[in-house]
Amino acid sequence: MNKVVIAAVVSLAASGHGTPALSQGAASGQKLFQQRCGACHQIATPRNGVGPHLQGVVGRTAGSVDGFRYSAALKGSGIAWTTETLETFLSNPAAMVRETRMTQRFNNADERRAIIEFLGAQ
Ligand code: HEC
Repeated sequence: MNKVVIAAVVSLAASGHGTPALSQGAASGQKLFQQRCGACHQIATPRNGVGPHLQGVVGRTAGSVDGFRYSAALKGSGIAWTTETLETFLSNPAAMVRETRMTQRFNNADERRAIIEFLGAQ
């Protein structure tokens, strides 16, 4: 087990979302996160990469991580990240925030749901 996995498991256990179904969804969400987002985003550690870290992103204001150089578009968007706004953004980032530097669309609704559930547990 690498550090990222251990940290995520620990924070899942600590978050108190004890139902088996939710834990399972979040676990596969973690795997999907690593596959789809991990090249650009860290979550277990608040470290920026190609994209800003996503620790605690649900409940955060868009463009608010210190030390990350956001596009002016995202920074000025005023979006509050919730499961709903994340769903809209991931479906098609540029449709929500024109000129964002995150351009990749995630078309699989089941995968989006699992990833967002995972994000909410971090
Ligand atoms: C190829 C790199 C790349 C990939 C892959 C990627 N992102 Fe991003 N993401 C970025 C960049 C760059 C930004 C900053 C965009 C800007 O400043 O306009 C960003 C911004 C974000 C934000 C806004 C964060 C904030 O602080 O406002 C969220 C949320 C996000 N990404 C989620 C995801 C998720 C979830 C995935 C996987 C499903 C993903 N991203 C995949 C590069 C990426």
